[in-house]
Amino acid sequence: MYKIKPASNIKKEIIVPPDKSISHRAVILSSLCKGKTTIKPFIESNDILATLNCMKKLGVAAKFTKKSLTINGTGMYFKPKLKKMPVSLFSAESGTTMRILCGLLCCQKFPAIFEAAPSLSRRPMERVITPLKKMGAIISGASKEDITSGKKDIYPPLLIEPAKKINSNEFKLEIASAQIKSTIMLAALYANGETLITEPYKSRDHTERMLKLFGANITVKDTTVICQPVKRLVSPGKLLIPGDFSSAAFFIVLGLILKNSRLIIKNVNTNPTRCGLLNVLKRMGANIKIVNEKNAYEPYADIIVESSQLKATVVEPYEVPSMIDEIPVLCVASSFAEGKTQIKGAKELRVKETDRVRSMIVNLSKAGVRIYEESYGNDLKIVIAGKRKYKACNFESFHDHRTAMSMIIFAMAGKSESRIDDTLCINKSFPEFVSLVKSLYK
Ligand code: S3P
Repeated sequence: MYKIKPASNIKKEIIVPPDKSISHRAVILSSLCKGKTTIKPFIESNDILATLNCMKKLGVAAKFTKKSLTINGTGMYFKPKLKKMPVSLFSAESGTTMRILCGLLCCQKFPAIFEAAPSLSRRPMERVITPLKKMGAIISGASKEDITSGKKDIYPPLLIEPAKKINSNEFKLEIASAQIKSTIMLAALYANGETLITEPYKSRDHTERMLKLFGANITVKDTTVICQPVKRLVSPGKLLIPGDFSSAAFFIVLGLILKNSRLIIKNVNTNPTRCGLLNVLKRMGANIKIVNEKNAYEPYADIIVESSQLKATVVEPYEVPSMIDEIPVLCVASSFAEGKTQIKGAKELRVKETDRVRSMIVNLSKAGVRIYEESYGNDLKIVIAGKRKYKACNFESFHDHRTAMSMIIFAMAGKSESRIDDTLCINKSFPEFVSLVKSLYK
């Protein structure tokens, strides 16, 4: 049990860890180049270490120096050291590792078994297997009904066998998902022609940006990405990783809902396909400034937030992909806003580390927030009626890092001490979160 004391009057400058999504891609693309790439700063969170461990099993060398990681890649075809096949890989709890790497593994010349920790073994994989199979991939998994959700899908472990050839294709995705888009883009590097991917709304574009930086021929037109095959990728030598907006989001909301507070968060990634939360919060009356804007292959800046009187808003489905991981903490902000906030088109939250619609409804309802879900066409919407006084509670993380961090932020804005059952799950993306929170009380 971790105890959370109420906080106020916080005036601090903080830094958040390097971006998790960009770090996954940095490790993967550096591995596909011959020669060295230094990734700095490097985030040693569980999910990124899962990707790195898979790369090492595939013959990639990696060396840690102070706060950075140097990767010595194999080129487009991995060279696993083990003579015994299939190569056995473990994705731990990282869905991004498994889903994105499928697109690369199906193009290799050896078979691989991809295993997952129990929590990831309950997350659906058909969404990446179906498009990859259309390109000629040979992938199979456990086709079954999940015991908790009752949903029929394909679940890990996966067996990925070498494809005879990878065919280019044209995809119209039903879900706006960077994981699906990215796995197809990686397979498209090995294809026999041009591959087109169109999303219903634009999801995060880190793969597009980084592939261009590594010399791939990628064109983007509205919500369509056009990928050409490549013979090789060329490393830029050094890759600077900006701070993670999804991690900053907890402190952005904290600075807004606490009394007499001002937080400066340094060097945060401000890629528009990730920062939808900023637009929504500004619409709610949030006092947020973006300063010191810089641009590398990704934009980044300092974010300044001050205590604000928030008012309710309506989030439309097209806005959801640009803030998919921030919806739990938006539910927290909405609990402190005047009026009824509606978040439309949120059903993808059901298949994250936990069902985040449920985890947020269970926790916030316990504290006295009026929050519920309603159907919205063939999707769902979350409705939150804000007020300002809530009960202290024992919250549940549901073993989900973003639920845990959201509830800690909520409890910090409370009137008396609350508790949460588990903070270990936070190591998935933000190992320094608890110590950063503690430092804010000093
Ligand atoms: C991610 C994409 C998102 C996000 C996940 C990381 C990525 O998932 O929720 O935390 O790095 O590509 P979807 O693309 O499935 O929405």
